[in-house]
Amino acid sequence: MKTPVILKTIQELQTWRKEIKDSLGFVPTMGALHLGHLSLLETSMAQNTHTLLSIFVNPTQFGINEDFDKYPRTLESDIALAKGVDAIFAPEISQMYSGEETTLYPPKSMAGVYEGAHRQGHFEGVLQVVLKLFNLTSPTRAYFGQKDAQQLLILQKMVQDFFLPLEIVPCPIVRDTDGLALSSRNIYLTKDQRTLALKIPQTLQKISSLISQGEDDVQRLYAFGMAELEGMQVDYLAFCDHLLKPLTKILPSQTLILLTCKVGNTRLLDNVWL
Ligand code: PAF
Repeated sequence: MKTPVILKTIQELQTWRKEIKDSLGFVPTMGALHLGHLSLLETSMAQNTHTLLSIFVNPTQFGINEDFDKYPRTLESDIALAKGVDAIFAPEISQMYSGEETTLYPPKSMAGVYEGAHRQGHFEGVLQVVLKLFNLTSPTRAYFGQKDAQQLLILQKMVQDFFLPLEIVPCPIVRDTDGLALSSRNIYLTKDQRTLALKIPQTLQKISSLISQGEDDVQRLYAFGMAELEGMQVDYLAFCDHLLKPLTKILPSQTLILLTCKVGNTRLLDNVWL
């Protein structure tokens, strides 16, 4: 298995990129890699001749009271886990930003709701860093997890609106054996909080079963879900289409159910794509 080349500067990245002539799969991450990230890397390696991983905890997508400082930074173990990738781009902040900069605004209808309503400026920061990374890496395909559903849909919209010459490949949520969706933030949970957090996938599972039994009324499904989640701090339970527009009736093959709860100080996102 090849050892990845570690690229720390823009110049090193650009020099490396010039030598890549065949397809390049790109997996942008903030590190603290888990099996969810590894599944993105595996999909990229299966679909492209080369794979590039980026590890960068992007300051512009964190709000002032969020966990930027304590976000896990585990570069050495990430490098060891990223077996088979060609290169890892792990820049310092000074490589990526130079003071006041141009920013991008995603459509309000997509970014002013759900995560966007709870995390002011979050998606602007995501678009800013991902566009920089796309411009630096010119990938053939870029891989994003469906767990961050809203991020994925907003990035697809940016690629479409700016005619970016790459394909975004959505990858399924990876879950732990107990059903909790994998996230780098799960390490913040105590044992008791983790047990409580299992209500999140369990509720989504129960809602999905009701839908497969024929229930299609969103008001009833919402009431059922909120009753199941009693005692939990629910940020939102939402039923929307694949453009994030709220639904009143479940649309077969076009519905996204989003559930985000705060457990202790940790916000946990999960969802189901129908
Ligand atoms: O999903 C993430 O880990 C981040 O939002 C991303 C896409 C790497 C941008 O910083």
